[in-house]
Amino acid sequence: MSLIVDSLTKTYGEVAVFRNVSLEVASGEFVAIIGESGVGKSTLLNCMAGLDDWNQGRVSLDGVDIGALGDEQRALLRRRKIGFVFQAFHVLPHLDVAQNVGLPLMLLQHRDKHADDQRVLEMLDAVGLQGLGQRLPQQLSGGQLQRVAIARALVHRPQLLLADEPTGNLDPDTALRVMDALIGQSRAHGASLVLVTHSQAAATRADRVLRLSAHGIST
Ligand SMILES: Nc1ncnc2c1ncn2[C@@H]1O[C@H](COP(=O)(O)OP(=O)(O)OP(=O)(O)O)[C@@H](O)[C@H]1O
Ligand SMILES: [Mg+2]
Repeated sequence: MSLIVDSLTKTYGEVAVFRNVSLEVASGEFVAIIGESGVGKSTLLNCMAGLDDWNQGRVSLDGVDIGALGDEQRALLRRRKIGFVFQAFHVLPHLDVAQNVGLPLMLLQHRDKHADDQRVLEMLDAVGLQGLGQRLPQQLSGGQLQRVAIARALVHRPQLLLADEPTGNLDPDTALRVMDALIGQSRAHGASLVLVTHSQAAATRADRVLRLSAHGIST
């Protein structure tokens, strides 16, 4: 899925988080976004998913201007086409691991339950959580929770994957494995990937690296 961010400005009251940010991500491309804490990386990613609003500019996904969509249409678009890994995992505490991972599939209708269960198992395996499907989130470590969030973002094979610091809580070996799963799954299904990261190792694997700063976005 192609993504175009055109002259985007986001402010809270008088204070600008960023101004005139423009970038394009081609279908199937992997772009990393780096930048200091507080420059607006998470905010920008939220705007790309239509989870946050902006003051000026446009965001288009495959030519669809998401600023022109209502909440419900945005939600449908996200459900069908976008996977999101949040910086704070947003795992649902009352659902077990497998149910959390399977949630995006459950929200899509007319699906084969058996195939979906199989897909959940594959995703748990891909992020190194095999055998933990029946646990509740409170019975997992921070790094394991992060991997639940990643499996959930990938399970419905989204065309656009937006990941906010997905390896921030992981040891180097697990981070590598999880990045392999993220990149491998995106490439395998031709999905575009936008990765916000502080990890140099992760950024160097991207097709392009963009730096967000108070002066805007640059290569
Ligand atoms: N609801 C809000 N009201 C006012 N300011 C906010 C609000 N939410 C975020 N901000 C500010 O917007 C700026 C950008 O925040 P954001 O979370 O996007 O940064 P970030 O680049 O993701 O940082 P980090 O690397 O620490 O995750 C910060 O200065 C933050 O304090
Ligand atoms: Mg952030």
